[in-house]
Amino acid sequence: MDDNLSEELLAVLARDVDYLPDKPEETAETTLAALWLTAAGESISAAGAVGRQLPSLDRRQQDKLRAMVRRRVAGIPLAHITGRQQFMGIELLTTPQALIPRKETEILARAAVRLLKKIEERVEQPMVMDVCTGAGNLAVAMALHCLACRVYAADLSEDAVALAKRNFVFHGIESRCKVFTGDLFAAFDGQEVMGKMDLITCNPPYISTARVGEMKHEIHDHEPSLAFDGGAFGIKILHRLIKDAPRYLKESGWLAFEVGLGQGEAMIKRMQKKYSYTEVSPLVDEKGETRGIIARNGGVK
Ligand SMILES: C[S@@+](CC[C@H](N)C(=O)[O-])C[C@H]1O[C@@H](n2cnc3c(N)ncnc32)[C@H](O)[C@@H]1O
Repeated sequence: MDDNLSEELLAVLARDVDYLPDKPEETAETTLAALWLTAAGESISAAGAVGRQLPSLDRRQQDKLRAMVRRRVAGIPLAHITGRQQFMGIELLTTPQALIPRKETEILARAAVRLLKKIEERVEQPMVMDVCTGAGNLAVAMALHCLACRVYAADLSEDAVALAKRNFVFHGIESRCKVFTGDLFAAFDGQEVMGKMDLITCNPPYISTARVGEMKHEIHDHEPSLAFDGGAFGIKILHRLIKDAPRYLKESGWLAFEVGLGQGEAMIKRMQKKYSYTEVSPLVDEKGETRGIIARNGGVK
C-alpha cells in the first residue's frame, strides 16, 4: 500500500511541480520524503529528509500527505507546507511571512563562520550583528558555530523578527542572540553597540523593484516582497549598509554581505574609493560569479 502510494505521488510530484534553481535541494524524491515525514508527524525540510527511512502511514496520515502534495502542485513553496528549511545543515522554522533561506546564502554563511573562527582566536566573546536577518538563519548558523559569540540581529519586518526569535529558542541560543525590529541599524538605537562589533553580516534585498514583479509565481506570490525589493536599481539597502556599517564595527572589524549577480564589481569599487574599507574581497560561487563581499573596517570616512 505504502509502495503504491509512494509511486503514485512521486509521479505526480515529478510531472506537476516546477522545481526552481534557487532551491536545488528540492526534487520530486526529496519533496516526497519531506512531505511524507511531515504527514507522519515529523516536520522536516527537503534536505533534512534525504536518506531517511519513510514510516508506514495510517489512513489519516495518507489523506494529510495527499492534501500536502496537492498544495505543492498548486505552487505553495515546500517550506511553507512543512514549516522547515535547512540552512548550513541546520533545520530552521519557516513561515510565509519571511524569506525561505536559500542555499546560495551559504556562501556568505561559510565566509562568516570562517571569519568568526579567526576572530575567536583573539577575542573571548566575539560580538556579531546580522541585519536583514529574516528567519535568523545567518545568526543561528554563526551562534551554533561559535559558542562564545553574542549576536544582535534585526529586521524591518515584525513577522521576520518573531520568526527569528522562535528559531533562536528552537536552537536554545536565545540567551546569546537578541533580535530587534527597525530600519537597518536604527533597530539598535538605545543599545550600546556603536564600535563594538567584530563582524556584521547582511543578506539584504538586492533585486530591482521592476524585476521583483517578474519573479516566478511561487516566489512572487508566496514570499514577502520586502525581502527582495532593493529599490529602483536594487542597490538601495546595499549602499546604506556599506555607508553605515563602519560606525558599528570595531577598528578592523569585518563586514560580510551578499550581493546579486552582476552587482559585486561596482560595490567593491565603491567600498574602496568612497569608504575606508581594507581587504575588500569577493565571495564567489562555483561558477566564479561574485555573490558576496567581505571587507575590513578601516575607520569612518
Ligand atoms: C533577502 S532577505 C534575507 C533574509 C535572511 N537573512 C536570509 O538570508 O534568508 C532580506 C531581509 O531584509 C529585510 N529588510 C528589508 N528592508 C529592510 C530594512 N530597511 N531594514 C532592515 N531589514 C530590511 C526583509 O524583511 C528580509 O527579511
